[in-house]
Amino acid sequence: MKMKVMPIIGTRPEGIKMAPLIKKIKADPELSCVFVNTAQHREMLDQVLDLFEIQADYDLNIMRPNQALMDTLTTMMNGLNEIVIKEKPDVILIHGDTLTTLAGALVAFFNQVKLGHVEAGLRTYDLSSPFPEEGNRQVAGRYADLHFAATLKNLESLKNEAVLPENIFVVGNTVIDALLEVADRPFTFEKILAAFINKFPKFILLTTHRRENLHALKDVYRALNQVIEEHPDVGVVFPAHKNPVVREQIKQHLKESGNILLVDPLDYETFVHLMKKAYFILTDSGGIQEEAPALGKPVLVARENTERPEGIAAGTLKLCGTSYNTVYADIKALLTNTKMYARMSEAKNPYGVGDTSEQIVKILKEKFIGVPSLDTIGK
Ligand code: UD1
Ligand code: UDP
Repeated sequence: MKMKVMPIIGTRPEGIKMAPLIKKIKADPELSCVFVNTAQHREMLDQVLDLFEIQADYDLNIMRPNQALMDTLTTMMNGLNEIVIKEKPDVILIHGDTLTTLAGALVAFFNQVKLGHVEAGLRTYDLSSPFPEEGNRQVAGRYADLHFAATLKNLESLKNEAVLPENIFVVGNTVIDALLEVADRPFTFEKILAAFINKFPKFILLTTHRRENLHALKDVYRALNQVIEEHPDVGVVFPAHKNPVVREQIKQHLKESGNILLVDPLDYETFVHLMKKAYFILTDSGGIQEEAPALGKPVLVARENTERPEGIAAGTLKLCGTSYNTVYADIKALLTNTKMYARMSEAKNPYGVGDTSEQIVKILKEKFIGVPSLDTIGK
């Protein structure tokens, strides 16, 4: 019988980073794949699944406008639990640190199903930042049987938490698999984007969404308003997250300006090509901190800390905080200091060569094929 693997995802970044792995699992003759989407995100994740041409076997259709953390978590756990009881997977795979990750980890644990954690070992050791992600990934790390870490730093963090070294695999990050799949495809921007880039070849690409940052967004936006006033040649492309709280902050604090192109979330292929074209990126996103070093694109990280110090060490990322003064000063510096800009533009990729999904499939098979599942023990 084939080993049944159940990848569980729910948000845009999980979709981007798990798509290459799900495709590999589906294509492997020794594995069967039951792909579950909690749909914690709807449109933003559907875009990804369309792009990578993968369809979920189960879709919990969880997303609600302004969803609350505990409601979303409990609804997801109930839905996932039913699927796991029905499908009896041999292994569940979760990714990263979202609510979907936490729900998947808990459901695997209580049903005594083997659990693999992809992108394991990221830590700030500050449970309030990022919130609730730091807590989610620490719990996932306690329950996981196999830990797929992207870097040696992630391996060290897990070892320090007494995870057995034989259960940790440093395999790079599947984000590079996804990035390489789309970055080199020939690409043409649609009309509005093309015209804006033509008008503002020097543009900043902006994204913001972190929960613990929501109160600070006004400072980030005000800093941008000021910069644009001082640099009329600089544009800003801003694909706004669908979170209504983020959108309200934009409405209240970002000035309407011909220099700012505010758009809905962009499909991954368009976004990757925008990253390549941007002068630099200003973001609080996690995934973008991993993609930018591979593209040699400077990033100002609008956060107080990061669980991804590799990009800082590579020189591509700089933490600019979230206060008006620090964000303003760092944007100005990156716009005007050519030495700083050149230093941050060197492409250095700490996250692997794009074979992470392949490695994970190989490890899953080596570890689990032929090992009796709980269901068959004693029968
Ligand atoms: C979630 C994750 C976060 C991840 C981020 C990626 C949690 C707690 N947070 O945060 O770790 O970095 O996704 O973007 O798991 N919405 C839509 N359409 C969509 C997606 C979201 O309308 O396709 C709106 C809904 O009103 C929803 C709200 O955004 O209620 C917030 O979504 P949610 O998944 O709860 O939080 P994110 O901030 O997106
Ligand atoms: N991204 C995208 N379209 C956009 C903005 C971002 O496809 O309009 C991609 C980006 O390249 C990265 C991922 O979405 O791979 C990051 O998602 P997000 O910032 O929402 O979540 P995080 O990585 O912070 O968890």
